[in-house]
Amino acid sequence: METTTKNIVDSLNRNFKGMSPTEILIYFLDVYKDRIGLSTSFGVEDQVLTDMVFKINNNAHVFTLDTGRLHPETYDVMDATNLKYNTKVEVYFPDTSKVQELYKTQGVNGHYESMAKRKNCCFIRKIEPLQRALKGLDVWITGLRAGQSVTRTEMPVVEYDDNFKVIKVNPLIDWSEEDVWNYIKENNVPYNKLHDQGFPSIGCAPCTRAVKDGEDIRSGRWWWEHPEHKECGLHKN
Ligand code: ADX
Repeated sequence: METTTKNIVDSLNRNFKGMSPTEILIYFLDVYKDRIGLSTSFGVEDQVLTDMVFKINNNAHVFTLDTGRLHPETYDVMDATNLKYNTKVEVYFPDTSKVQELYKTQGVNGHYESMAKRKNCCFIRKIEPLQRALKGLDVWITGLRAGQSVTRTEMPVVEYDDNFKVIKVNPLIDWSEEDVWNYIKENNVPYNKLHDQGFPSIGCAPCTRAVKDGEDIRSGRWWWEHPEHKECGLHKN
């Protein structure tokens, strides 16, 4: 990261100390206008941010990466969200020819066989579409929380993402799971029904399962891999 970018990011982090997610969002939406977007997987944190963002600006840019292997419940909450906010969340799909090639080389469920194969699949279904989605944007808003995993404890509110070459803003980074659910209930925000069936964190259907009470909230994601490696590449570790 260049010194000037680092200085800007450091100073923003200092200014945002003690500010609410809505205040942070108001700042960024106002300054970056059509060069900012919220990425949503329709998980509960993203639903909070979607509600906040649309309350600030009902034309805000919200997008999702439809990997092609999402749970039916995720499409239900996508639909409920579009209806509630009178919008159509923008959808990015994987490149068809890349998915065809993936099936040819490692089969439909090759992702269970090795981390390299799993990462190939994540790359084609999430990373490359995200590169396209972020083209033309300066700021990427995410629903990351520090409490989600060992790979996320050090993440700040604002950072420069060297992979995707954008400023990344994580307004809920300091929120607890309880803060998130209180917001959902108080504001009557639609949420993925899988959350009521033991799924605290939801990704693609073949790579997400329910967790038991007391288990780590991301332990149902890529459950056959070591916790230190459980990122798809969207968020570096
Ligand atoms: S992941 O990298 O392990 O899949 P996670 O599910 O915890 O990430 O979500 C963290 C943030 O990444 C979300 O708040 C959202 O901003 C973004 N994200 C994850 N998956 C998607 C998706 N399919 N589409 C859009 N954004 C996503």
